[in-house]
Amino acid sequence: MANQGATRPNRPNTGNKMCQFKLVLLGEFAVGKSSLVLRSVKGEFHEFQESTIGVKFEIWNTAGQEWYHSLAPMYYQGAQAAIVVYDITNEGSFARAKHRVKELQWQTTPNIVISLSGNKADIVNKRAVDVQEAQSYVDGNGLLFMETSAKASMDVNEKFMAIAKNLPKDKPENPGTNMARERGVDLTDPAQPARSQCCSH
Ligand code: GTP
Ligand code: MG
Repeated sequence: MANQGATRPNRPNTGNKMCQFKLVLLGEFAVGKSSLVLRSVKGEFHEFQESTIGVKFEIWNTAGQEWYHSLAPMYYQGAQAAIVVYDITNEGSFARAKHRVKELQWQTTPNIVISLSGNKADIVNKRAVDVQEAQSYVDGNGLLFMETSAKASMDVNEKFMAIAKNLPKDKPENPGTNMARERGVDLTDPAQPARSQCCSH
């Protein structure tokens, strides 16, 4: 797994701590999970180099095919954060995203940070899921929410940053290590003060 923080040139040695979290991506087939990861990994993360807290996400991406869902509990195990993705042009993908949220709430730790992502927000003329409907659903379920577009690079990094801000950095847990991972991503947040209890990697 790439550890961008350790290899990045010109990164100031501030003695900052690094927190590592396991983040899982869920959502129906073709909603844009892989595209969001690609956008985030190749996107704007580098501009936050001089931070006081680093957050490394170990991103577990998977296929959205129905047959894969029997493996889901194994995949969720040890996750501290999840992004559940639906496609704003596909109402069925929103309904199934809500099922995935329920599963996560039943099968993972109570303090998991769950973020819903209404992806493909660039396709405005084919919208099938009303943003207000999604907003009232997340408000009633204690989730983070953003509409995103991997294609237009809309709110993708913001989504990861919002999750990072909501993670309990003083009580880190070790993410799982025994399944294939997509990519490790460093996030840093200049707005966050350093905390001495944070884990160091
Ligand atoms: P599976 O791995 O099969 O479950 O799909 P996935 O959720 O990883 O979706 P993927 O990223 O492969 O994207 C599916 C299709 O949607 C591709 O053709 C992408 O180019 C397209 N796509 C992904 N994100 C966006 C987006 O934000 N806007 C638009 N217009 N198309 C997108
Ligand atoms: Mg994919």
